[in-house]
Amino acid sequence: MENKQSHHGFSGKIGYIMAVAGSAVGLGNIWRFPYLAAKYGGGIFLLVYLVLVMTFGYALIVTESAMGRMTGKGPVGAYRSFGKSRWFSLGGWINAIAPMVIVPYYCVIGGWVAKYLYEYMRGNSTALADSNYFGSFIASSGSVELWFVVFALAVFFVITGGVRGGVEKISKIMMPLLVLLAIIVAIYSISRPGAMAGVKYFLVPNFKDFSIMTIVAAMGQMFYSLSLAMGILVTYGSYIQKDVDIEKTTKQIEIFDTGIAILAGLMIIPAVFAFSGGDAAALGAGPSLMFITIPKVFESMGMSNLIGFVFFLMVLFAAITSAVSLMETCVSTVMEQTGWKRSSSSILVLGEMLIIGSAAAFGFGIWSFIAPMGMSILDFLDFISNSVLMPIAALCTCILVVRAITFQRIAKEVKISSSFKQEKLYRFVVKYFAPACIAIILVSSVANAFGIIKM
Ligand code: TRP
Repeated sequence: MENKQSHHGFSGKIGYIMAVAGSAVGLGNIWRFPYLAAKYGGGIFLLVYLVLVMTFGYALIVTESAMGRMTGKGPVGAYRSFGKSRWFSLGGWINAIAPMVIVPYYCVIGGWVAKYLYEYMRGNSTALADSNYFGSFIASSGSVELWFVVFALAVFFVITGGVRGGVEKISKIMMPLLVLLAIIVAIYSISRPGAMAGVKYFLVPNFKDFSIMTIVAAMGQMFYSLSLAMGILVTYGSYIQKDVDIEKTTKQIEIFDTGIAILAGLMIIPAVFAFSGGDAAALGAGPSLMFITIPKVFESMGMSNLIGFVFFLMVLFAAITSAVSLMETCVSTVMEQTGWKRSSSSILVLGEMLIIGSAAAFGFGIWSFIAPMGMSILDFLDFISNSVLMPIAALCTCILVVRAITFQRIAKEVKISSSFKQEKLYRFVVKYFAPACIAIILVSSVANAFGIIKM
């Protein structure tokens, strides 16, 4: 299992951190995190999330990066290199399938962002701030589908057109701008009358608001936001050199990703309290939260069309960079497994995205009668990938470490370039804590499927 650094390695630590951060920071931070935090308990959700990121998330990032660097392969190849049995490839495949479930609906939401950007460009901020605007937009089906296809084709073009370098350069300017703008909007939204109750709800844990769903949602979000359990980090790990301190870069990635999520929470949750009093219905809005609250905040700020335009432009960039790396993962799995060329593999993945994504796009309108487990198609895809596939993939990875790779070999790999201060924590998490969390998430998912509990 010698290290084959055959493919284009990163220029160094910075290149690696930027690449992982670019794929990590996306709709998950700005759109998904705030609505989950609002819905599943505010401060208690944040606390559970932080604990999970620092333990479970930490152990998984270290494992995946070390596995990639050790083997020099992507997920399916890396799993196989540790054993011949069919179980090993199965573990790799579950990792590889998750992004194929995510990328179609990711592009649907990317389409929503593009639509809002377009409306702000036309000066429609007042219409967007109407509480019913979003609901009637997503129910329109045709318009949602149009914007979804535009977004998906843009991602496809970036991948096949070889403009990736350009996208990375632009996102190096866009990302800092996004952070700056988010800080301004957060300060504005915190200073609205009535917003302080929202800050308190988001930052101060209240055990009254705790439910089993707090853990399930926080864990799914951790996988999603850190791009875990999808083989991304195995692939990226296979590109890094032996001198990259895996332990340190892991921490930097976690701080960056979580920081942006918290900022987005401060931008949106206090605004929910300022604009709708923070009642249960407003907090439980779910996926639509960002699209309803943010336009209201902007409308009350003045210069709303300009601010809305700049904001959604940046969200669009964050979404495109993440969608590109999601699609790239799918394309490279297809290429590796079929031996096809990049172009035909990309077309296959695009086809899959268009079919499943269209179902998600229609799911709020003409196909709203299709409601697996009582969810819309988009929510269902999100649930299956984050609350079922990724936990199973993570469990496979833990079993692989304990049974096949062994802690000694992981530790040896990590220690090439770092002191591995948290080795004890690492072992505890992989052996006991992570499997226990995964058991909770899977049991409650099944209970939900049979209607025993309501998620
Ligand atoms: N982490 C990304 C976000 O927060 C979404 C995502 C999940 C992702 N898995 C990924 C991005 C894999 C790139 C690759 O929006």
